[in-house]
Amino acid sequence: MILALETSCDDTCAAVITAEGEIRANVISSQRVHDRYGGVVPEIASRHHLELIGDVVEDALAHAGQELGEVELVAVTRGPGLVAALLVGVCTAKALAAAYELPFAAVDHLHGHVAASFLAPAPFEPPFLSLIASGGHTFLAAVKDHGPDYEVLGQTLDDAAGEAFDKGARLLGLGYPGGAALERLARDGDPAAFDLPRAAKLPGLDFSFAGLKTALLYRVRGLGPEQTERRRADLAASYQRAIVESLALRVERALSGTGTDRLAVGGGVAANTALRERLTRLGVELNVPPRELCTDNAAMIASAGRYVEPAPYPNYLDLDVYATGERAPVTR
Ligand code: KG4
Ligand code: ZN
Repeated sequence: MILALETSCDDTCAAVITAEGEIRANVISSQRVHDRYGGVVPEIASRHHLELIGDVVEDALAHAGQELGEVELVAVTRGPGLVAALLVGVCTAKALAAAYELPFAAVDHLHGHVAASFLAPAPFEPPFLSLIASGGHTFLAAVKDHGPDYEVLGQTLDDAAGEAFDKGARLLGLGYPGGAALERLARDGDPAAFDLPRAAKLPGLDFSFAGLKTALLYRVRGLGPEQTERRRADLAASYQRAIVESLALRVERALSGTGTDRLAVGGGVAANTALRERLTRLGVELNVPPRELCTDNAAMIASAGRYVEPAPYPNYLDLDVYATGERAPVTR
């Protein structure tokens, strides 16, 4: 049994999985206290993790019908993420592992998103192309084996795709995080009503959403006081179409460039129906894990933990966290 913790942002998560990748428990406590600030406040996230983590771990073990003494490996997200938030997960994981002198797997969060596809009951086996699009990261990677290494082919030069959804939602007067709300508004709109930029001229496989966001700002202002619900829906649909097409364009380039016909998608934006439908039309073998495994969760960290060289007790006690992807086990 593997026990994993994930606290890199504002979700306090613990999971128990078997070595074969069968999920026995996957507990996610979303803090929902950051909405009023329009973004995650690191200190508040950290404090809430501290309050919640004990109960979340207990819930996961109870749900899995396991005692801590039966756990064989403790895995945890080491980075990238908010340092104060990561520290809560890493310190808790160290304490739990040390109490039973267990081995310890320090997992990179992005490897975790990729490894969501390796979970039972229908593991998607490498090699494949992976598109990860969430609130904090957007990248394309060639996944040749279970990792922890994989080759990053392209990544965002500015905003992440989820961030673009969130900022667009804010401009349209929707709450935070706004991806799902923007998708709902877009349902009644015409995606061809507004012509918005997709950074199509940007060569290669990197993404950019900053120009699109600015274009939306001017279009929202241009709507003026006679902002009808209909026009807002048109704008939301056009904006969503631009993000989806921008992602799909790079995926198409990467598929033809690498000669791959297998694609896995992960991250919170993978919940978007327009994106799923667009990628389905590519005609490749497509893997999109269930929604709760696309957004941040600890089952994906446990899954990745199976492919990390574990540190034996007590070699992990001075292990530190990292905030950015610089120390992530990715190459480019
Ligand atoms: O993976 P995730 O839960 O957390 C991060 O690691 O960031 O992703 C959250 C992001 C948010 O930006 C949210 O707006 C976006 O995923 N998101 C969506 C949808 N559901 C969540 N974006 C577009 N359409 C959705 N239905
Ligand atoms: Zn994430």
